[in-house]
Amino acid sequence: MATHEALLSVDGLHVSYGTKEVLRGIDYSISEGEVVAVLGANGSGKSTSLNTISGFVAPSAGKIVFGGADITGHPTHKIFRHGVIQVSQARDLFPGLTVEHNLRLGATIRNRDQEEEYLERVFNYFPRLSERRGQLARTLSGGEQQMVALGRAVMAKPRLLLLDEPSGGLAPHFINEIGTIIHAMKDDGATMLMVEQNLSLAFKVADRFIILRDGVVSDGGFVKSLEGNHEEIVRTIYL
Ligand SMILES: Nc1ncnc2c1ncn2[C@@H]1O[C@H](COP(=O)(O)OP(=O)(O)O)[C@@H](O)[C@H]1O
Ligand SMILES: [Mg+2]
Repeated sequence: MATHEALLSVDGLHVSYGTKEVLRGIDYSISEGEVVAVLGANGSGKSTSLNTISGFVAPSAGKIVFGGADITGHPTHKIFRHGVIQVSQARDLFPGLTVEHNLRLGATIRNRDQEEEYLERVFNYFPRLSERRGQLARTLSGGEQQMVALGRAVMAKPRLLLLDEPSGGLAPHFINEIGTIIHAMKDDGATMLMVEQNLSLAFKVADRFIILRDGVVSDGGFVKSLEGNHEEIVRTIYL
C-alpha cells in the first residue's frame, strides 16, 4: 500500500481576534480525496478555521501544511496558487458582471487551457446558469448566486475546496443540487473541507466529520460508522 500522506494538516492552530482567543489549539488532517465536514455551534470558530487556511486570518500559533508545503501565514494569493479555493459565506460575486463573466474569472493559471471545457461542465451541473449566462449577477436570486459561487470554484479546479455553509439560506430544492455538485467535484478529485449546519446535507456528502467546541476539536469520526444515528452528534454539538 502507498504511504498515507495528508493533503492538509493543521497542527496546534491558535487564532485570536484582539484579546479574544477563538481557536485554542486545533489539530486535524485531511487525506487526498476526502470530504470532511466541520460542525459546531454558532460562534465556535468554523468560519475562522477556513479563513485561516485560505490566509484571510493569520494564526497566532500553530502550523498549516498543504501538499507538503508550509503555508502558515502566507498571503491569500499565494495560497490560492497552491489550488486552495474558498467559497465563503459572503459570496463575493461581481454584481455588475454577467454569470458567464463571473464564472470565467474563476479559471486559474492551473487550468486556463481547459476553460471552455470547465465552463460547459458548470452549465451541465447547473442548467439554470446556462439559461442565465448573460444575466448580471446582481439580478439573480440568492440560490442562483450561490450556484455561481460554486460554479466559479469548479472553474478553478481546486485541489482543496473550502466551503462555508454552501446551503446557507437556500430553499430545499437548491440544497439537493448543491449536494449533487459536491459529489461531482469529489469524483473529479477535489478534496473538501466543508462547514455545514444542514446536517442531512453534511452527512450525505462527507466521509468524515470533526466537531469544534471551546476552540478545540472535541470530537470526530467517520460518517459511515454513525450508521445513520445522527442524534448523538447533534447533542455533542449543541448541548
Ligand atoms: N473579524 C472578526 N473580528 C472579531 N471577532 C470575530 C471576527 N470574526 C469572527 N469573530 C468572532 O469569533 C467567533 C467565531 O466566529 P466564526 O469563526 O465566524 O464562528 P462560526 O463560523 O463557527 O459561527 C465568534 O464569537 C465571532 O463573533
Ligand atoms: Mg460561520
